[in-house]
Parts: sequence; structure tokens; C-alpha cells
Amino acid sequence: MQLHNLADYQQRIDAYLTNQLDNLECNDPRLLAAMRHGLLIGGKRMRPYLAYITADMLQLDLADIDPIAGALECIHAYSLIHDDLPAMDDDELRRGQPTCHIKFDEATAILAGDALQSLAFDIIANHQFRHIDAQGQLQLVQQLARAAGYVGMCGGQAMDLAATDKQVSLEHLQTIHKLKTGALLSASIMMPASCCRELSAQATSALRRFAEQIGLAYQVHDDIIDITSNDETLGKPSGSDLQANKSTYPALLGLQGAIEKEQQLFENALSALATLPYDTQGLADFSTFIIKRAH
Ligand code: IPE
Ligand code: IPE
Ligand code: MG
Ligand code: MG
Ligand code: MG
Repeated sequence: MQLHNLADYQQRIDAYLTNQLDNLECNDPRLLAAMRHGLLIGGKRMRPYLAYITADMLQLDLADIDPIAGALECIHAYSLIHDDLPAMDDDELRRGQPTCHIKFDEATAILAGDALQSLAFDIIANHQFRHIDAQGQLQLVQQLARAAGYVGMCGGQAMDLAATDKQVSLEHLQTIHKLKTGALLSASIMMPASCCRELSAQATSALRRFAEQIGLAYQVHDDIIDITSNDETLGKPSGSDLQANKSTYPALLGLQGAIEKEQQLFENALSALATLPYDTQGLADFSTFIIKRAH
């Protein structure tokens, strides 16, 4: 299925991110090359896409969304570089390319991740927003920090590692997935939403419910395609979760159970959307896309 405006928004964020890296004073060309490798080569740009379509739905000025989308993608790129390290998932292929530590070396990959994380906060903290005041800007920093850190992605990644070679409960696995992947995807919707002054408390909570469901569904589907797809389609090693004995939805529920689970999350997501007084077609299509995608 085709997502509306996907190519346009991918180009928009690629240009924005390329510009961010081009404007950095170059102190260490090798580190900068590793950051480019992790940030600019490939990637579906789903978090920026979500930020843009949420903003579109709420009729926000997309010039204010570029830094939000850019910062989210920097955090995501950093999380993937570190996720692939030997100390974590120990994978050698990402987006059809050698992973950062294979192409460069471990120390450079660690630093590239660190620098991309800092860049994310630099972008949000130093941007001159058109319609967001200092208080709103601070709120964006807070939202991003929480989504990325101990109560978000990093915490989830730690729990993911701790759950390797173990049988965990479904509830525990849900928490892992909500944190390691759901938190940043939710932020991709809720950061733009927080820029909309007219958004009612009711609409905010419906949007948050939607975001939580699709954030979780995104990782359930990632677990599914790890076993149903191949390296070439995925651009990353298929079967990696099985080989590493990871706690995943298919491992816990079986493939069919995992498919039913994502379907249920999809339906919950759509019911949350149905209560919103906006044109939610873009978000609905995105929900379909994430549970159908082949990579
Ligand atoms: C992969 O994310 C890792 C997860 C958090 C599930 P994506 O599937 O969004 O990866 P890219 O950015 O398109 O490569
Ligand atoms: C990664 O989950 C989640 C992150 C926060 C990076 P996975 O380890 O399943 O992601 P892939 O399959 O390597 O992309
Ligand atoms: Mg992982
Ligand atoms: Mg991984
Ligand atoms: Mg995976």
C-alpha cells in the first residue's frame, strides 16, 4: 500500500537532516562520516512521517515540525547504531548496508550514536520556532528526553536485553515493546500535538491512546517480519531474534497469535481515532501500513 505524501516527506526530512550535518563544524571527519552513515543512508523515516501527518491533520505550520521530525529521527538513528553493537544485538546488516561498527569500528559507532543523541536536543533547543513559545519549546525537550531515556527507549532496551534467553510474561513483554519502540513513535505524534493550542484534553487523550496502540503494533510487526521475511527485503538479518533467543511476540504467542495481537492493536487504534474531530485518514492509513509492511 502507498502512504499519502510519503516520498515528499521522506525527501523533506532527508534534506533537513543533510543540512544539519553539513552545517556542523567538522572536527573529526571519521566520526562525522559514521553519523552520516547512521542517519542518512536509507530508513523508512516513519517517525518524521508520523510527525508531519499529525501536524497536517492539526493544520500546523510544517516549518515548526521539521526540527521535531529531525530530532526524532536522530534519536532513532542513534538507537539503531547502538542496538546493532556486539554488546547488544550484534548485527552486521542495517538498511542493506554494513552496520556502523562494521563499516567503522565500535568506538566510532558508540560516539556516532552519542553525538546523534546530542544533536537531537541541540536541534530542538536551538531552533527559532515560528509559532511555539519558550514554554512550548521546553515542553518539546521534556517530551523527547522522556521518550528517549530511562522511562522510554533506553529503559526498554535494557529490559529487552534482560529478557533475552528467558521466558517473560505477556504483560512484561508489552512493557518492553512499549518502551523500547512505542515511546518514540508516540512522541512522534504527541510532540506535534503539543504544538496545537486548540487541541482539547479529550482529543489529546484519544490521540495518546492511538499513539500507544500503534507504537506497540509497530514492534509486534517488527518481531513478525524478523521471522517471515528475508535479509534482502528487511535490509537487516532475518531470524536475528530467533538466533539470539530474544523475547518477542511470536516467541511467546506463536506466529498466528502475534498476528492476531497486532490486528487487535490496529482495531483499538482505529477506535481511538474515530473519536477525533479531525480528518484522520492519514493516521488510519499509517496504521494499516505498519501491520502490512514487508520491511
Ligand atoms: C526498526 O525501526 C527498529 C524498531 C524500533 C522496530 P524501523 O523499522 O523504523 O527502521 P528504519 O528506520 O526504517 O530503518
Ligand atoms: C529495536 O528493536 C528497538 C530499538 C529501540 C532500536 P529490535 O532490536 O527488534 O530492532 P531491529 O530489528 O534490530 O531493527
Ligand atoms: Mg534490539
Ligand atoms: Mg536489533
Ligand atoms: Mg527487530
